Amino acid sequence: MTEIRNEHCPIHGGYNSRRNRETGKWARCWGCVDAEIKELEAMERQQAQAAEGEKLLARMIEESGMEGRMLLSSFENYTAAKQAQANVLAACRAFAESAELDGGKNIWLIGPPGTGKTHLGSAMVGHFIRARGIPAAIYSAREIVRMLRASWDRKYDPEVETESQVIDRLGEIGLLVLDEVGVGFRSDAERIQLLDVIDRRYKLGRPTVVLSNLRADDVKEVLGVRAFDRLRDGAEMHICNWESHRKGAQ
Ligand SMILES: Nc1ncnc2c1ncn2[C@@H]1O[C@H](COP(=O)(O)OP(=O)(O)O)[C@@H](O)[C@H]1O
Ligand SMILES: [Mg+2]
Ligand SMILES: [Zn+2]
Repeated sequence: MTEIRNEHCPIHGGYNSRRNRETGKWARCWGCVDAEIKELEAMERQQAQAAEGEKLLARMIEESGMEGRMLLSSFENYTAAKQAQANVLAACRAFAESAELDGGKNIWLIGPPGTGKTHLGSAMVGHFIRARGIPAAIYSAREIVRMLRASWDRKYDPEVETESQVIDRLGEIGLLVLDEVGVGFRSDAERIQLLDVIDRRYKLGRPTVVLSNLRADDVKEVLGVRAFDRLRDGAEMHICNWESHRKGAQ
């Protein structure tokens, strides 16, 4: 009793359509139905991939060491009132856009507080993560020491990275910004831990950014000669000696 009739699909040509006994409707072209299913599946795959990408991005941001206003600091919202600021901004942007993961290039920003060093460091981290999809992080020297110390002091806490996990992560991450280099280390042990990180990056040629309120000579004193030399090698130096933004903005 099944009713069948011949139909013509402009895309797939002739086909036999069956009439559904309950609904009374004639079946559509199988080729068309099939194509719609495939399209839906592709859309779902795309959505799943986008969601996966979002998750990855959120995770990279979470593990970037950025917090508060650092998350809002970009090249776009860095105002360059002076030519020297425009030059440093351009250098940081170029570095973030082109530094290769094995290129052995570093960049230093030296100057007094409030000159936007942390802002530009955060912008470089943000660019690596958002535009290049490469993990990057910014930590003050003191924070790194604290992370390493947490792993020395821990009883057993799976949430806390071990010392060698910290060294591996920071030693290998795509871009590492060392902020507030020069705030004193309390022991040679702490200095040696940081040297392990710097040494690993140096061997891999990973780009590293050094931000400091100290003059280069004093950074050498604080970091020790070996860490200093590795960070200086292949580095461009920029002096930020304009007026503090905190003071300048009213
Ligand atoms: N040229 C600038 N344009 C916009 N904001 C700036 C600029 N320089 C500094 N800031 C802002 O001023 C504050 C202090 O800057 P920061 O980057 O912490 O300075 P530093 O690390 O050199 O002490 C931050 O909120 C930063 O976003
Ligand atoms: Mg700072
Ligand atoms: Zn069809």
